[in-house]
Amino acid sequence: MSGGSLPQLREVDPSGVPSADVYALLVGCVVPRPIALVSSLSTSGIANLAPFSFFNAGGAHPPSLVFSPVTSGAGRDKDTLHNVRATGEYVVHIAPWGLREAMNQTSADYAPEIDEFEAAGFTKAPSVKVKPWRAAECPIAMECRLFRIVEHGEGNFRANYVIGEVVYFHIAESLLVGPGLRVDSAAIDAIGRLGGPNYTHVTRESVFGLPRPVLPGL
Ligand SMILES: Cc1cc2nc3c(=O)[nH]c(=O)nc-3n(C[C@H](O)[C@H](O)[C@H](O)COP(=O)(O)O)c2cc1C
Repeated sequence: MSGGSLPQLREVDPSGVPSADVYALLVGCVVPRPIALVSSLSTSGIANLAPFSFFNAGGAHPPSLVFSPVTSGAGRDKDTLHNVRATGEYVVHIAPWGLREAMNQTSADYAPEIDEFEAAGFTKAPSVKVKPWRAAECPIAMECRLFRIVEHGEGNFRANYVIGEVVYFHIAESLLVGPGLRVDSAAIDAIGRLGGPNYTHVTRESVFGLPRPVLPGL
């Protein structure tokens, strides 16, 4: 196999390592991570927006997404987790490069009674099948109903895997190419999260194709 000499590896058994160090290791290794900008509503109707990069798709029938708001050692759940637990509904947006500052603003530790659409300058648009608002500026919005929350671990940075079913998609026409529902992913101008405060930007130039291998005789 090509690729140069084999790397010299540091062995790390995470048991016994402080959770902040394990977190830094994990978010530095698992890159780039897509970012879910999640809209939810409190039971009293306050609109919430927050980004989560512990995020991915998991299946397509039905379409499902997972993200994880972690719980801090003090046991304080994020407002998004509270809201999703209480209402079972949310909207996942993909925020492009042009919305990076506004997306980041929604990650500030606002009190639950603050409307984070207003705080970060997003426009509220009605969703079709769920109550939480859609952020009109985002080219992709996926309305979700909660399937299950899987809590994993204890102490600081413990996971809460929020698994949801996408019940409605909103996609900018400009992103759709060809017949069917094929998306020109390079046109999204997506950003991805790396470790610490760092991000990556998916530009047309950064995209490359890699056809799947075809085994002989198949
Ligand atoms: C790009 C980005 C990605 C983030 N990803 C996560 C994540 O996956 N899990 C998490 O718990 N917090 C994550 N955060 C921090 C939350 O967005 C932050 O704690 C936010 O205040 C939570 O808002 P809420 O309390 O309104 O739900 C991220 C922040 C940024 C800027």
